[in-house]
Amino acid sequence: MSSKNLTLKPGVVYETIITTTDKKNKPNGAPMGILQDKDDYIIIRPYVQSDTFQNLWDSELAIINFTEDPKLFTYCTLFQDELPEDAFTHYKDNRGFVLSVCKNNYLVVKIIEKKNEKDTERAYFKCQILESNFQLQTYNPFTRAFSLLIEILIHSSRLVFYLNSQSKPIELMDGLRKLIQEHTKVIKRVVPEDSVYLDLLEKIHGKLNFESK
Ligand SMILES: Cc1cc2nc3c(=O)[nH]c(=O)nc-3n(C[C@H](O)[C@H](O)[C@H](O)COP(=O)(O)O)c2cc1C
Repeated sequence: MSSKNLTLKPGVVYETIITTTDKKNKPNGAPMGILQDKDDYIIIRPYVQSDTFQNLWDSELAIINFTEDPKLFTYCTLFQDELPEDAFTHYKDNRGFVLSVCKNNYLVVKIIEKKNEKDTERAYFKCQILESNFQLQTYNPFTRAFSLLIEILIHSSRLVFYLNSQSKPIELMDGLRKLIQEHTKVIKRVVPEDSVYLDLLEKIHGKLNFESK
C-alpha cells in the first residue's frame, strides 16, 4: 500500500519519531531516520543498543510519526523519562501507540524482514505500510533553527552513547562537541531571546555538561 497524502521520495532519508512498544506494553518514542525504497517498503536502521531496536526486534508493528515539533524531538532523543504520560495515545485495539500530537500524521508499518548482522552497529528492518493517516497540515515556514537543532540532537545522542560506554574515542567526541557548539551559535543568531529553541539548547547543554555562555 502506498502512503496517501504523503509523498516520500524513494531513497531520501526523512527524520521521524518512531513509536514502539516493549514487552510490558510500555510505549517508547525515538527519532529515527527512515527511507522508502523503490518497492515502497520503509527501511529503518536503529543502532543495536537502542530500545527501539529491541522493541522492533520483539514485535511486529511500529508507528512512524511525522512532526516538526522541536520540543518533541528533543525530549524523545535525550529526555524520554520526562515525557508526560499523555504524550502517547493508544493506536486501535491497544496494538501500539502513536504520539498524541501526531494522531493525524502517521504511518503504521509491519516488519517483514529484520537483520542484525554481527559487528554492525545498526540493524536493518524492512517494513510494509499497513495504514497511512495523513491530513492536510498548515504550512510552517522553514527556520534554520529546526534543522540545526536536529543536527545537534543527532550529535548529542552519539555523545551521550560514548559518555555512557567504556570506549571513549576522544577525537570523535571533541569533534561532536565542536559541531554542537557551532550549530548552537547559528541558532542563537536566528531566534529571539524568548525562543523555545534557547530553552531546549540550555537543557541539552546541561545534559552534556557544557558550560553555558
Ligand atoms: C533526527 C534524529 C534522527 C535519528 N536517527 C536515528 C537512527 O536512524 N537510528 C538510531 O539508532 N538512532 C537515531 N537517532 C538517535 C536516537 O533517536 C537516540 O539515540 C534515542 O535516544 C534512541 O532512543 P531509544 O533507545 O528509546 O530507541 C536519531 C536522532 C535524531 C535527533
